[in-house]
Amino acid sequence: MTSLYSAAAGPLAGTILLPGDKSISHRALLLGALAVGETVIEGLLEGEDVLNTAVAIRKLGASVARDDDGIWRVHGVGIGGLREPDSVLDFGNSGTGARLLLGVLAGHPITVFITGDKSLCSRPMNRVADPLAEFGARIMTRRGGRLPLAIAGATDPVPVTYRLPVASAQVKSAVLLAGLSTPGHTTVIEPEPTRDHTELMLQHFGADIDITHGSDGAAHIRLVGQPELSGQPVTVPGDPSSAAFPAVAAIITPGSEITLTGVGMNPRRTGVFETLAEMGADITRLSERVEAGEPVADLRVRAGGLRGVVVPAERAPRMIDEYPVLAVAAAVAEGETVMQGVGELRVKESDRLSAVAKGLTSCGIRVEEGEDSLVVHGCNGPAPGGGLVETALDHRIAMSFLVFGAACEQQVTVDDAGPIETSFPDFVDLMNGLGARIAQGKAAV
Ligand code: S3P
Repeated sequence: MTSLYSAAAGPLAGTILLPGDKSISHRALLLGALAVGETVIEGLLEGEDVLNTAVAIRKLGASVARDDDGIWRVHGVGIGGLREPDSVLDFGNSGTGARLLLGVLAGHPITVFITGDKSLCSRPMNRVADPLAEFGARIMTRRGGRLPLAIAGATDPVPVTYRLPVASAQVKSAVLLAGLSTPGHTTVIEPEPTRDHTELMLQHFGADIDITHGSDGAAHIRLVGQPELSGQPVTVPGDPSSAAFPAVAAIITPGSEITLTGVGMNPRRTGVFETLAEMGADITRLSERVEAGEPVADLRVRAGGLRGVVVPAERAPRMIDEYPVLAVAAAVAEGETVMQGVGELRVKESDRLSAVAKGLTSCGIRVEEGEDSLVVHGCNGPAPGGGLVETALDHRIAMSFLVFGAACEQQVTVDDAGPIETSFPDFVDLMNGLGARIAQGKAAV
């Protein structure tokens, strides 16, 4: 375990290019594996989570190669063409990789064993196993729907109409991906909008997908099964979830001004920037453009005082991964920030509600942790800090508290920074390049 500390920093300044979007990177590899012909991916996130997906599709028969210039090339096998791997697929820390691949496998008549690290093996898989069983897949999990599991995909999958019981893009995507190898129409009914990268990328690869809305406002996403997908060029935008870390660091470190280039601005991902703006943050979108079907912008972020706000439950799906770093911003804001409807945070890489509450408390911040809510009482200025934060195999907890250290009186230490490799391998170097003081060992006084 690599423990890192983060100490109070001077103003942050500079321009950085964010790593590729994790959600889009997984999807590009998976659809590339199912397409006929070559998929050329530029800007793929080379974090552990995505690399595990690359290994998995290779074991399933797709050819995956990286050029020296960082371009990835996938030669797919066509829908239904994946072959049974001769060893267990290990998804490490990645819920997205494991759950999306389960969807792909549900309509392939092969048997596959899937596992992950301690964090992933504690996360619920029934949310995808249940709808995939409706297609005819057989999935045997450990008790409580946990990994490791075995899936035997359906030989003759039957189409399904599935209403999402939880606002989850992973569940939606697993069902749609299962629909690819299923004759007829597969429909997902989505009451609350979640990230739509799967729908956008399916269209990009040539699938026939249409979206209408029911009288209750729910989206009905209908996919025509067994399309011929053809390999496509994919340009992966910078990950807005990763951008949130340097953005919050700049906002809470007095005198800072940074620019984050090429950040994905899909409206279903930008809830954190809206919330920060409501809190009074100075974030400006520059050079707004569309790249490969996804909106992208550069973000100029300046330091400034924040005030607490109420973050309504309906915004949660649009910023689900950003609550830990939002809580850090809330800790230095004036007044209280109330985050409602955030129970899903309990089943992420860690129980993020509890990890954030414990971490902030250890740094002298008053927090009220509810079953599906979090209230952070901001200290209106530099926080005491001084805590030792358990990251519990959660990259976003590690990065959030390293960001927090920049605005604390005493250094903040995270016990294990290793998980940062899953989504943002250059995080520490990029942050230090901006002027942060993140290092191993004890801070110099
Ligand atoms: C993701 C969906 C979200 C998010 C995760 C990535 C995706 O999970 O938290 O980091 O790529 O579809 P849920 O679908 O469980 O909300």
